[in-house]
Amino acid sequence: MTEHSGPTTGQADEPEVRRGLAGVVADVTAVSKVDPETNSLLYRGYPVQDLAATRPFEAVAWLLWHGELPTDDELAGLRATEREHRPLADDVRAAIDLLPLTAHPMDELRTAVSVIGAREAAGLTALEAAADRAVNLERSVRLFAALPAVVAYGQRRRRGLEPVEPRDDLDYAANFLWTTFGQDPDPVVVDAFSRSLVLYAEHSFNASTFTARVITSTLSDLHSAVVGAIAALKGPLHGGANEAVMDTLTEIGSADRAAAWLDDALAAKRKIMGFGHRVYKHGDSRVPTMKTALDTLVDHYDRPDLGALYDALEAEFVRRKGIYPNLDYPSGPAYHLMGFDTPTFTPLFVASRVTGWTAHVLEQQAANALIRPLSAYVGPERREVPRAGAGD
Ligand code: COA
Repeated sequence: MTEHSGPTTGQADEPEVRRGLAGVVADVTAVSKVDPETNSLLYRGYPVQDLAATRPFEAVAWLLWHGELPTDDELAGLRATEREHRPLADDVRAAIDLLPLTAHPMDELRTAVSVIGAREAAGLTALEAAADRAVNLERSVRLFAALPAVVAYGQRRRRGLEPVEPRDDLDYAANFLWTTFGQDPDPVVVDAFSRSLVLYAEHSFNASTFTARVITSTLSDLHSAVVGAIAALKGPLHGGANEAVMDTLTEIGSADRAAAWLDDALAAKRKIMGFGHRVYKHGDSRVPTMKTALDTLVDHYDRPDLGALYDALEAEFVRRKGIYPNLDYPSGPAYHLMGFDTPTFTPLFVASRVTGWTAHVLEQQAANALIRPLSAYVGPERREVPRAGAGD
């Protein structure tokens, strides 16, 4: 058996093992294209940085689901449906209230999607639901609309605050900020937040999306796929990194301490969160757009100290390791400046990525093949079970 972390040719008589599925092309997709050589990320053919600069998040969600940008009427229709399904449902609130305040917000979100899924699936078999694109598209829109209230409620209940009713005069991103903070959101902050949502929305066969596709491939339902994807995203090697970045910046404290902190961290063989990527090796295509948004927020909130710390750690790490920041590096401090508690950062990622996940669920359902790889066995050879009671 040969073991690889990248593409190689295996011996004819032994299985080829690619740990972490590195370099394996598992299926085709028309949702997004990641090109590590040119640092580009295209959603349905459009460069993500151009979408972030010119389109609201709702239009990008439509693009991911339908393959084309919405017309004005289509966008208006999506926005009307989204507004209709914003309020926090009683059963979801009751389920969250059963969880301890010490539960991670990702656990709240995972629970909320389970509750919504159980309600939505009532009366339909999983097989029936999996076969019906219209049903799954409607479920995707309703779920996309429902998540901000869940994220906002989680942060507010941890702060001992009552939930805030959504506002129909605000679009998705502005309403998200309103329901979280209960204050009129500043347009500068809405713009930075909206860009982050567009940037986080989709990224081909990452771990959580692949999890969603594996679950979908068994003909399980859309909400189960999203629950699994949330579980995969929670890990610090994936979505949890934006939280870990903020913990790191808080631990370092100030720009002048970045170099000494990095010495110690690298000596202790710590992974520096927010740097490195499985696919991009010359820098993450989404970072420049998010860094510009972060710079705007640093000015808006008058926090040059945080901007300087960010720059100092990046410069030191890139100089020593030649490994570049990923999207979680600028988005962590950006969400912090907006006022989100650190454990809420990954749920924000979920609220965005649910669009990409559900687009992949629809794609997988449209041309399904059960995902079931092989493994190379390395345990004991066949042996006899000892006689019961013979010395064990
Ligand atoms: N900090 C320190 N060293 C890092 C590093 C980081 N953030 N990212 C990569 N490296 C080092 C590894 O230790 C390894 O060194 P070695 O060859 O001496 O063992 C080398 O770079 C290759 O890294 P590897 O973990 O094999 O790359 P990968 O493609 O499997 O992993 C990540 C990619 C994302 C898992 C990895 O870069 C990482 O853990 N980053 C931090 C978590 C993070 O920000 N995740 C969000 C991703 S969007």
